[in-house]
Amino acid sequence: MPEPRPTVAVVGASGIVGREAVQILEERGVPRENLRLYGSTRSAGRRVRYGEAEIEIRHVDTIGNDHHDFALLCADADVAHTIRTALHDMDTVLIDNSSAYRMDPSVPLVVPEINGNLLTTTTRLIANPNCSTIMMLAAIEPLRRALGVNGITATTYQAVSGAGAAGLEELIDQTAAVTAGESRTPTVFPVSCGWNVFEHESARDPETGFSGEESKMVAESRRIWNDPGLNVLPTCVRVPVERAHAQSLNVDLDEPTTVGDVRALLEDAPWVRVWPEGRLLTPRDAAGHDEVFVGRVRMDPASDGRRVLLWVCCDQVRKGAALNAVQIMEEMLETASC
Ligand SMILES: NC(=O)c1ccc[n+]([C@@H]2O[C@H](COP(=O)([O-])OP(=O)(O)OC[C@H]3O[C@@H](n4cnc5c(N)ncnc54)[C@H](OP(=O)(O)O)[C@@H]3O)[C@@H](O)[C@H]2O)c1
Repeated sequence: MPEPRPTVAVVGASGIVGREAVQILEERGVPRENLRLYGSTRSAGRRVRYGEAEIEIRHVDTIGNDHHDFALLCADADVAHTIRTALHDMDTVLIDNSSAYRMDPSVPLVVPEINGNLLTTTTRLIANPNCSTIMMLAAIEPLRRALGVNGITATTYQAVSGAGAAGLEELIDQTAAVTAGESRTPTVFPVSCGWNVFEHESARDPETGFSGEESKMVAESRRIWNDPGLNVLPTCVRVPVERAHAQSLNVDLDEPTTVGDVRALLEDAPWVRVWPEGRLLTPRDAAGHDEVFVGRVRMDPASDGRRVLLWVCCDQVRKGAALNAVQIMEEMLETASC
């Protein structure tokens, strides 16, 4: 991280995304004294390990008492709105992981590898896209640049930690219950996630039948690629996996290509890791890593080289949330130093 090192607030530091953000900031060498952690009354006062030291989580109501160059918002949409108001006059750059501002045309929705050019020295609020959207577009971006993309049919296999720390706890609890032959009422998901698979729990749009997660993938992809007519057909599914989402993507290309050329284009993108042919790629392989993993590249034999099928795995807590936010912060710092 360039000098002078920024002062950074992490709001929601006790949650899955917030904890990951703190870990990444530590990996990036942000000094302990430059970092302040915030949470609600539930976590305020708790101490979080940071290198050899510890940092106490402060109550979020006190966030305006200090100046922060950046605030990484790792809580829900209501908290994002509150913090925006609280820090209105503080010249802090807010990077929000919630859905609060993703469709606000005045707020850039950014995946740095794709549209980091939207960030300017005067940007003060940036929305981090939905995790399923980030991984899908990051995997396909090298193909879009070289060949053009006019449609995506996606099926997702989403880890329970996408629903936060409580989702993870529910998987452990429900798996134990089902294994023991017991029935315990789920609280995070509408049905038991133990040894089970079900459509994404976000509410269905009564008109389209799309779940909230599916609608986000459609709208956010169009916004990030600045392609309002892009045809995106997602089916989002929860699976009993702890961490890292998987996706099966059928990508419709403008220009014909081959499996070899697709693999070469993906291999040239530093944020993509192409999995060796013949080896099984699973979410566990991607968990804890920065890259979007792509395996099993195939062509639709009836498409004249214009439809490619990909199997993608990505740590949705990392590249799908915390890492993307830190990368936005780094891009902002670079823009400011130019
Ligand atoms: N999990 C993922 O894979 C993922 C991926 C992409 C985006 N996101 C988004 O990232 C955000 C965080 O998700 P998460 O999965 O980390 O959730 P989580 O594990 O449930 O954590 C939520 C965090 O928000 C904090 N919080 C709740 N109410 C608060 C308040 N009133 N004031 C201050 N802090 C408050 C909690 O702190 P306390 O314990 O102190 O209440 C906790 O640290 C959400 O908007 C989510 O949609 C998540």
